[in-house]
Order: sequence, then C-alpha cells, then structure tokens
Amino acid sequence: MDFRPVGIFDSGMGGLTAVRVLRRLLPGEDIAYLGDTARVPYGGRSVEELRRIAESDVRFLRGRGIKAMLVACGTVSSNCLDYVQQIAGVPAIGVVKPTALEAARATRNGRIGVLSTVATTRSGAFVRELAAIDPALCAVPSGSPKLVPLVEAGRADPADPEVAAAVEECLREVRDAGVDTLILGCTHYPLLSEAIRAYMGGDVALIDSGAAGARALAQLLDDGDLRSPRKSFGRTACYASGDAGEFARVAELFLKRDFSQTTFKTAVL
Ligand code: DGL
Repeated sequence: MDFRPVGIFDSGMGGLTAVRVLRRLLPGEDIAYLGDTARVPYGGRSVEELRRIAESDVRFLRGRGIKAMLVACGTVSSNCLDYVQQIAGVPAIGVVKPTALEAARATRNGRIGVLSTVATTRSGAFVRELAAIDPALCAVPSGSPKLVPLVEAGRADPADPEVAAAVEECLREVRDAGVDTLILGCTHYPLLSEAIRAYMGGDVALIDSGAAGARALAQLLDDGDLRSPRKSFGRTACYASGDAGEFARVAELFLKRDFSQTTFKTAVL
C-alpha cells in the first residue's frame, strides 16, 4: 500500500486518454500528469532529441514524489523506453507492449493497422512487438505528422473538413489492406476516435493506447503492492510546460466529465 501519486507524461493532451481510464479503474489514486505542451509535437524528433526531452520529463515527475510511471506517449515509449526505465528511479512502463497485446487478442483475421506518429513508425516498435506475440500477425503501419497538431488545437470533430481529410490521408492504405483491428498507437488519437471510426467503419476494432497503458499501470500497482488504500477521491494534478490555461481549456473540451478533482499548473522543466 502506498499513498504516493503515480506519474504519467506525454507531449500534450494525449496522455489524458490514459488518465481518464486510470481514474475509472482506480478512483483513489493521486495522479501527477505532465503534458509537455511547450515542446509538442514529439512525433518528428530524432531518438537523441527524444531521450533528452524524456530526461527532463522524468526529472520533473520524480520531483513530484511518484511511486510508478506510465510513459503515456507512443513516441517516447517506442524510441527510448529502456532509457526512461534506467533513469526513472521507480517502476516505469510504456504503451507499446500492452497495446500490442490487446490488438493481438482483438483481431480475427490477423491483419492489424498501426496508426502512429512518424517517429513511432520509424522505430518499428509496434511491428516488432506484434511479431514477437505472434509471427503470423500482419501489421500495416502508417505514420502521420498531421493529427497531433489538430488535437492540440482542440479539433477532432469528424465534420471538420481538415480533420476528415487528415484521417483519410493517413488511413487510406490501412483501410485498403483489409485490417479488422487498428492500433491507435499515439495517445492523442483516441481523442479522434469518432472521425477514425467514421472513416474505417464500425467493424474495425480500435485499440486505445492510452487505455491499454492505464490498464497495464493498474496491473503494475497490483503486482508491486503499490495501490493506494484510498478507494475514492484521488486527485489529478495536471502540469503543462506551455500555457496551463490553454491546456485546461482543451483538456476540459475533450474530457470534461472525467475531470473532477483536477488542478492545472505550469511546469518548469
Ligand atoms: N501522444 C504522443 C504519442 O503517443 C504524441 C506525439 C507527438 O507529440 O507528436 O506519440
């Protein structure tokens, strides 16, 4: 049993898709969330840059006295999770493995689309993870630089022509490949689920990397006997390295019902 908060970080809004699921699974846990909005997007950066950035994100969360960490960023998880685990000082997990496991369980025809940032696609991490689970699985990757900036600007409406066009552009080949399961391999993308579902059709299973990461974090707390003894009223402290007011505005736009007991502050990294 452990009253300390869990730490979760992402480049911006995306990791809140993990926070909202963790809130429901473990309502008594305190959460320290960092959205590095001053440096978003991460998805076009080199491995070297990502390591440097992740180092300051980890340092910030360690300063909040956390007991465990979720890297709720597909880009950092797929490019430098091992480095984060070395420097975290507490048990740390990423989103790639739990998301790939959920996708492998969900598929019926063995064809799985992997939508992610460009840096995640370049890393090949999801494709490797799926092959390790079952070499017979066929992964169809697609990396896009266009979706994260739309989400950060609070734009996710399928009726928004720019949103619909960006979704179509990055998913055309994936849809044509006949996948029955689609990994949303960037944690921003579950916020675009409606637009993605509208394009892919209702039969394709969408696998939410934020939710999968949250479930894996809950399991980690159970396994390590790290759960808070409190059963409710956990607090979420959201820190943004950019404009905290703007972060709060967009966060509440997407996730309003899930954000009671939440404070928003500026993070100096
Ligand atoms: N949510 C991050 C991810 O999961 C977004 C990356 C970005 O900032 O481009 O990859």
